[in-house]
Amino acid sequence: MGLKFSFEDGRKAQSQGLFNEAEHVIPGGISANIKYFSPHPIVMEKAAGSKLYDVDGEEYIDYSLCYGALITGHGHKRIISAANQYMESIGTTIFGTPHKLEITMAQKLIDLYPSIDMVRYTNSGLEATLFAIRLAVAYTGKNKIGKFEGHYHGGYDEVLVSVNPNEQEAGESDNPIAIPESKGIPEDKLSQTIVLPFNDLDATERILRTHANELAAVILEPIQGGFIPAEPPFLEGLRKLTNELNILLIFDEVKTGFRVDLGGAQSIYNITPDLTALGKVLGGGFPVGAIGGRKDIMMLSSPNKESDVFSVDGKSSHKNDVVFHSGTYNGHPIVLSAGLETIHLLEEEGVMKQLFNKTNSLRRQLEALYASYNIPMQTIGMGSIFNIVLSLDTIRNYRDMWRADNKLREAIDRELLDLGVFLKPLNRYSMSTSHDDMDIKQTINAHETAIKRLL
Ligand SMILES: Cc1ncc(COP(=O)(O)O)c(C=O)c1O
Repeated sequence: MGLKFSFEDGRKAQSQGLFNEAEHVIPGGISANIKYFSPHPIVMEKAAGSKLYDVDGEEYIDYSLCYGALITGHGHKRIISAANQYMESIGTTIFGTPHKLEITMAQKLIDLYPSIDMVRYTNSGLEATLFAIRLAVAYTGKNKIGKFEGHYHGGYDEVLVSVNPNEQEAGESDNPIAIPESKGIPEDKLSQTIVLPFNDLDATERILRTHANELAAVILEPIQGGFIPAEPPFLEGLRKLTNELNILLIFDEVKTGFRVDLGGAQSIYNITPDLTALGKVLGGGFPVGAIGGRKDIMMLSSPNKESDVFSVDGKSSHKNDVVFHSGTYNGHPIVLSAGLETIHLLEEEGVMKQLFNKTNSLRRQLEALYASYNIPMQTIGMGSIFNIVLSLDTIRNYRDMWRADNKLREAIDRELLDLGVFLKPLNRYSMSTSHDDMDIKQTINAHETAIKRLL
C-alpha cells in the first residue's frame, strides 16, 4: 500500500506558497493547531453551499463544514440576508448593551432544551464549558472536575487533559491517567482534573465515589467526538450517581447541539443535565457559545447590583457574592440574528429529517462500497455527524479507536483531498442541508478511486 501524499503534482502550489508565507508571520502557519495537517493545510478562497474552492481553483465537497458549525452549508442566502438586514436595521454592528435578540434566543433555547431554564452567551464553545465549570465550583463549593478520556471541551488547562493520550502513557482502561495535551499546563491545574473511562459505569462509579468530596462537576460529550454514543444505561447511571454525590452534570453539546436533534443529545437520551454548553451551529457560522441550565445554578452569575469587579469605589463585589461572567462581545446581535435564522431554517417541516436521511444514505453507500472491497469498515454516528472506522469491532470509547486501521483511513483521507473531498484527515463527517445526491455520488466515486489507488 502506497502511503504517498505530498501534493507533489503542483496542483496545490498556490496553497503551498501561501502556507509558506504564513509560516513566517503565524506560528506553524495556522491560527488553530487542530487545523494543521501535513504536508500543509489547504488555503481556501471561496465557498458556496456544500463546496469549498481553494486558491489553486480546485473544488471540494466539504464534510468538515468548519468542524460542524455550518449545518446549512456555506453562505446560505437566508442566513446571510438575515444578518445583513439585521445589521442595517439596527444601524450598528454591536450595541454593547442588552438588546431584544438576547431574549428571543434565550427563549428559543429554553423551548428546545428542557434542561435549560436560563441562558448566558459567550463567544466560543470553550468559554461556555469554562463558565459552566466555574458555576459548578461555586455551586458545590468543591474544586475538582471529572472529565472523560477522549472528550474535548476546548483548549484550557483543566480540560486539555487526556483528549488524545497515547497507549503507552494512558494507564489502565478502568483507571486512566491524566495526561496533559499541551506544554504550559501547571501541575496544580492538572491535579484538579480526574479522568474517567467513557461507557464504563462501574469504573466511573468507583472513581466518582473515591473523589466525591472534591468533585464539583462531571463534564462530558454525550456523544463522544459527535460520533461515539454514550450507552443509555451509562448515561442514566451517571445522572443518578452525580445526583447522589452532589456533583453537577455538565453536557457539552457544542458539537451535538442541533446536529443530532434540535434539542441536542439530551432530548434523544431523555436525560436532564444540570448545565449545558452550546456553540457551533448556534452561531450560523459566526463565533458563539452559550451556557444554559437550572435556574438556581445560573442565577449565581446574576450581578451584585451594588457593585462590580471594575468599580473604582473600593466596593467591588466580594468573591462570595457572585460568579463573574463577562465578555465584550457576549450576546452579539449579528451573531444571534444569524443563529436564530439557522434555527428557524432547521425547524421547518422535514428539514432535519431530510438531513438525517441524506446522512444515512451516504453512510449506507460508503459501508456497501468498503464491503465490496473486503475492507472491514463501519460508520458510527448519530443525526448529521458520523465517522468512518476501519474496524468491525464494537467502538464504545476512545481506546477502542486504537484498534481500527487508522493508517489506511488517513491514507484514504489524503487521497480524498486530491479527489475533491474535503475533510481534515481522520476527522468526522458533518453533513449540511446543502449537500445533495450529486455530492453523495461524487463522494462515493472519490472513495472508490482512493481505495483503488491504495490497494
Ligand atoms: C464538544 C466540544 N466542546 C467544546 C469545543 C470548543 O468550542 P470552540 O472551538 O468554539 O471554542 C468544541 C470544538 O470543537 C467541541 O467539539
